[in-house]
Amino acid sequence: MPEVTLALVGAGQRGQAYARLAVATGRGRVVAVAEPDPRRRAAVAAEFKIPPQRAYAGWADLAAAGKLADAAVIATQDRMHRDPAVRLAGLGYHILLEKPMAPTEPEASEIAEAAVRSGVIFAICHVLRYTPYTRMVRRLLAEGRIGRLVSVQHLEPVGWWHYAHSFVRGNWRRADTSGPMLLTKSCHDIDWLVYVVGAAPARVSSFGSLTHFRATERPAGAADRCLDCGIEATCPYSAKRLYLDCLADPDRHAWPLSTVTAEFTEPAVLDALRTGPYGRCVYGSDNDVVDHQVVNLEFPDGATGTFTMSAFTPMGHRQTRLMGTHGYLEGNGETVRHVDFRTGAEQTFDAATEGGPSAAGGHSGGDEGLIEAFLAAVAAGDPTLLSSDATESLATHRVVWAAERSRQTGETVSLP
Ligand SMILES: NC(=O)c1ccc[n+]([C@@H]2O[C@H](COP(=O)([O-])OP(=O)(O)OC[C@H]3O[C@@H](n4cnc5c(N)ncnc54)[C@H](O)[C@@H]3O)[C@@H](O)[C@H]2O)c1
Repeated sequence: MPEVTLALVGAGQRGQAYARLAVATGRGRVVAVAEPDPRRRAAVAAEFKIPPQRAYAGWADLAAAGKLADAAVIATQDRMHRDPAVRLAGLGYHILLEKPMAPTEPEASEIAEAAVRSGVIFAICHVLRYTPYTRMVRRLLAEGRIGRLVSVQHLEPVGWWHYAHSFVRGNWRRADTSGPMLLTKSCHDIDWLVYVVGAAPARVSSFGSLTHFRATERPAGAADRCLDCGIEATCPYSAKRLYLDCLADPDRHAWPLSTVTAEFTEPAVLDALRTGPYGRCVYGSDNDVVDHQVVNLEFPDGATGTFTMSAFTPMGHRQTRLMGTHGYLEGNGETVRHVDFRTGAEQTFDAATEGGPSAAGGHSGGDEGLIEAFLAAVAAGDPTLLSSDATESLATHRVVWAAERSRQTGETVSLP
């Protein structure tokens, strides 16, 4: 397979992860970077041996230099996807774009139109499509093991501390600066359900709200910052406990600790908690996204689905039950239990034996699987090596916006 050259747009958490994975395949090379943070830009340029003249302070400067690579990996924050994606697709870059496509339907439509118009290979980072586990679930369905799928139940257990980190104190806490929770977090799940069921729903309805992480729930004695709080030790959402514990665990340095502080020492963590957003009381932040939401889905053939996102869980894999006319599948992100109604026999399948990217990797192997598929598609000029294109990703995002509209209006929304 020929080498694929990449321009990295946004060298943050995700951008760096994709760049490393691409290089690790032996088939990707990062030849340019656009990143306004000088420290990150210099570190990435050094790591990938990018010459100084190919390290830009922003995507617009990179675009002004013309087409420098086969493909662009765009991993800027949610509200900075449309402009670089449209411009770089117009320059003929193949595009790997982080989810969500964009915060609004018109912006996402512009991106999809630009990708189709330019004829470039385009993928949204719906990494869950590319895990060995997902491949196994789809295979079991395709083998007819449960007959006709009639109902599906899917849970996204966000995790209490992960929710507090990202959605109360962190980048995705407000709909007006990133997007609604169903879009920023659970667009993965809605996309996954459409992929697994094999059809987009015809109707959706949704309920959900911000119940707990708000001023009305603030316990007596709580202070504005965990470091000043007299009841911090008994609070499940203590930033002090969370980030000092991360300090002691190297596996949690890259995430979530590096979003809080660049220096992994106790004084640096305490300083960040004293002055930065991650030290705020969860009952006194400026967050507004929901902490729990359900979506009901009705598919064109009458099959139904429910999706639940909740902050109030341990952080873990998504859990799914697929109920069919002849059998039942129950998946926990690693294994799937199958019950055959004809015989009563039970069998458990393990994603670890599926082959392909390691199920233990980022997003259960989905990050690696996506990068491999994207590089292969670009190298071969064959978009069918990817599991979705711009048009399909736009369609699954539309389900998210329809569900969010339902949550806000209380009405059931039909999709065309
Ligand atoms: N696929 C997934 O499962 C997954 C997981 C987490 C985050 N995300 C998404 O990935 C995206 C990035 O998230 P992140 O956590 O890496 O964010 P981040 O803040 O760590 O990285 C974004 C980077 O973009 C840079 N940037 C800002 N303006 C820029 C410009 N003009 N040109 C180039 N770069 C610019 C920032 O300086 C920053 O380094 C978001 O859209 C997020 O929702 C996806």
